[in-house]
Amino acid sequence: MDERIREAKQVLGREVVVLGHHYQRDEVIQFADFRGDSYKLSQEAARAQGRYIIFCGVHFMAESADILSRPGQITILPDLNAGCSMADMAEITQVEDCWEQLVRAGVTTDEGEGITPITYINSTAAIKAFVGERGGVVCTSSNAAAAMKWGLAKNEKLLFLPDQHLGRNTGYAMGIPLNEMVVWDPYQLGGGVTPDRLRAAKIILWKGHCAVHQRFLPEHVDNVRAKYPGIRVIVHPECRWEVCQKADGIGSTEGLLKMIREAPSGTMFAVGTEIHLVNRMGKEFAEQGKRVITLDDSGCLCTTMFRISPQHLCWALENLVEGNVVNQIKVKDGVKRWARVGLDRMLEIR
Ligand code: 13P
Ligand code: SF4
Repeated sequence: MDERIREAKQVLGREVVVLGHHYQRDEVIQFADFRGDSYKLSQEAARAQGRYIIFCGVHFMAESADILSRPGQITILPDLNAGCSMADMAEITQVEDCWEQLVRAGVTTDEGEGITPITYINSTAAIKAFVGERGGVVCTSSNAAAAMKWGLAKNEKLLFLPDQHLGRNTGYAMGIPLNEMVVWDPYQLGGGVTPDRLRAAKIILWKGHCAVHQRFLPEHVDNVRAKYPGIRVIVHPECRWEVCQKADGIGSTEGLLKMIREAPSGTMFAVGTEIHLVNRMGKEFAEQGKRVITLDDSGCLCTTMFRISPQHLCWALENLVEGNVVNQIKVKDGVKRWARVGLDRMLEIR
């Protein structure tokens, strides 16, 4: 499989660029021309020169790449089943309904005067467009604080979706107390929040989460600290607030890598994020005398990231060699326009 992938890549040359998210398995990430977190890969997609962008990641990442790429470029997701369960927790109709109720409660006008909507990049293109059209922005875990600061300079309030944990952790780190945040549950009447509470809140958090990161618990932090005195605990901001509060560092996948890279030799880390990245960190940093273990070994695997196999990558590449485009991700023009506004703002805010 490796040989076939290498050969097809060689034939296609500069026509193709392979982007790989850090959660991809070793067998796949070895073929990435660029690897990174969501922010870095969006930047790479925006400056990609090749005709084809093969995104080894999940659906919302490939959609963002299609929106940010130049006309005529083609974005491919090797397995269309590689979605993101968090992104699935917010549907555009639910977001429209929430907005309508915020307008009715007097929190905002339809155009967004009163509240700045911010969507995490882990959301559909339609939601990115919704936010872009109402003066809002898309963010990633690496610029969420800057995006919130930007949003609060425009309006007194924020609607943050779909990850309640990233929103809560970032807002709290900026000095916003927990009692000024409310959680909007799209499956409850009026979001399960009274209009008075909506009006009083500084941040309205969408009730979404990442099943992978939500598995990490505060007791896992206590356990590793008891077992390995002096260990540094670093976690992704999609983890629960209680876990982040106990951690020594919080960062995007790229940020977590940086923390380990910059630590002195001999440091030991317990990392709260997806297992393929943690295992790779363990291997790569061992030669620098750093030890990296997972915060909990009960298998924190992102099953959708795992969908991208060498076989899928090979199939997509070999089809391109034969002149066939398979699994193209194509965002509708009407949606693209406003989603691009939200994503361009994201790339400007750092
Ligand atoms: P990063 O942008 O930190 O890589 O996060 C993407 C993601 O989906 C984490 O679960
Ligand atoms: Fe989505 Fe969580 Fe997987 Fe990231 S780790 S792609 S948020 S399901």
